[in-house]
Amino acid sequence: MADRERFGKLAIIMALAGSAIGLGNIWRFPYIVGEYGGAAFIIVYLLCSLFISLPIFISESIIGRRAGQSTYCALHSLSRGTKWKWLGLVAVAGAFIISSFYSVVGGWSADFMLRAGINGFSSSNPESVSTIFTAMSTSVWEPLLAHTAFLGISILIVVLGIKNGIERFSKISIPLLFVLIVVMMVVSLLLPGAQDGVEYLLKPDFSKLSAKGISCALGQSFFSISHGVGAVLTYSSYMKKSQSILSTSVWTLIFDALFAIIASFVVMPAVFSAGLKPGAGPALVFESIPFIFAKMGTVAPFTARIVSTTFFFTIVVAALTSEISMLEVCVSQLVERMRYSRKKASILVFVAAWIVGALCSLSFGPLSGVSIFGNSIFGLCDRLSSNYFMTLCSLGFAVFVGWKMDRVQVKEEFTNNGTLKPSSAIFNVFYFLIKYIIPPVILLIFFTNLM
Ligand code: PHE
Repeated sequence: MADRERFGKLAIIMALAGSAIGLGNIWRFPYIVGEYGGAAFIIVYLLCSLFISLPIFISESIIGRRAGQSTYCALHSLSRGTKWKWLGLVAVAGAFIISSFYSVVGGWSADFMLRAGINGFSSSNPESVSTIFTAMSTSVWEPLLAHTAFLGISILIVVLGIKNGIERFSKISIPLLFVLIVVMMVVSLLLPGAQDGVEYLLKPDFSKLSAKGISCALGQSFFSISHGVGAVLTYSSYMKKSQSILSTSVWTLIFDALFAIIASFVVMPAVFSAGLKPGAGPALVFESIPFIFAKMGTVAPFTARIVSTTFFFTIVVAALTSEISMLEVCVSQLVERMRYSRKKASILVFVAAWIVGALCSLSFGPLSGVSIFGNSIFGLCDRLSSNYFMTLCSLGFAVFVGWKMDRVQVKEEFTNNGTLKPSSAIFNVFYFLIKYIIPPVILLIFFTNLM
């Protein structure tokens, strides 16, 4: 078999950060920060990321790099003759489901980017702009076309392979995303009345932070840093043996958290400046933000057009870098397990994800009457993958590294055979967390959410 492709040293961080930075950072994070008390939520979020998500992320990375194979095959080869390989299969299923509905939201963003470019949401009445989203998402062809285009571009990057596709794309898009989001933040902070939004984000109000808020912080940190569906595992299987797993993981966490926080400083000051409420929920980006741009357009139409197009372009690029990581989980699995060519595997994954995504898209329109256990098709895919697959697979990866793998092997991988001094110093803390603290915490959160 040909040698496995390996990411360059910086490229693996860019690719992992690309997987992490996505719709979760720009679309979801600001609105949950809005719902659960601003800075108080951010503090809890950072603590969850550091003490719970980071060790799980590292565990997944250890499995991937140790095995040098992707999800199912990795667990199979590290625990031959056991049932652990099924954990890999469930994780791949999770990645597949997320990639399908994620592409629908990615498509909406691309649609809004084009609308912004064409007329900058200009309208004589900014209020009417907020109805655009409902009209678009409940229609049939427009969101389907957008989903097809978004998924198509993503799979094209994946077909090109690790070095020529994912590495190249990540190395350009991650620096670009940071430049864009910082520019957007500056624009947002210059808006009249933006100060109130900044205050809201900086003043912690712990009274608004409920138990639900805390479990939401943990769930968001799982989703945002992308562990639990084999994306971290698969990318790490292309990591060089000489690279430090601890430092790549910490850098990914820093980039991801930084991006989410900057995105909040883009969204919240603009929301306050337009006199809107911060707790608008999921509609924040697709309804409140266009309203803000439309309002801006009544004063400065050209600026509004440029800024709104840039804003949605940033979301599209961020979503693409995440989407390709989920598709790679599925494609690499077919390549390694079924011995398909990358091209054949990519076409299969594209078709399957397109079908599930199309059903998700139609569940806002003609299929809105379909209810499965009280959920729409989109809602079911979102809940299944985020609440069940990601949580349980994260638990599985933690238990696998903490209890199933040999401690010596784990330490070798964590410290590169003892050659990395900082990693050696931290290893015991990591191992203690992953073995004794994280599994019961995940179970607690899981059952609290069920009730
Ligand atoms: N982390 C991505 C986001 O924040 C979503 C994602 C989840 C990507 C799981 C890959 C795997 O949008």
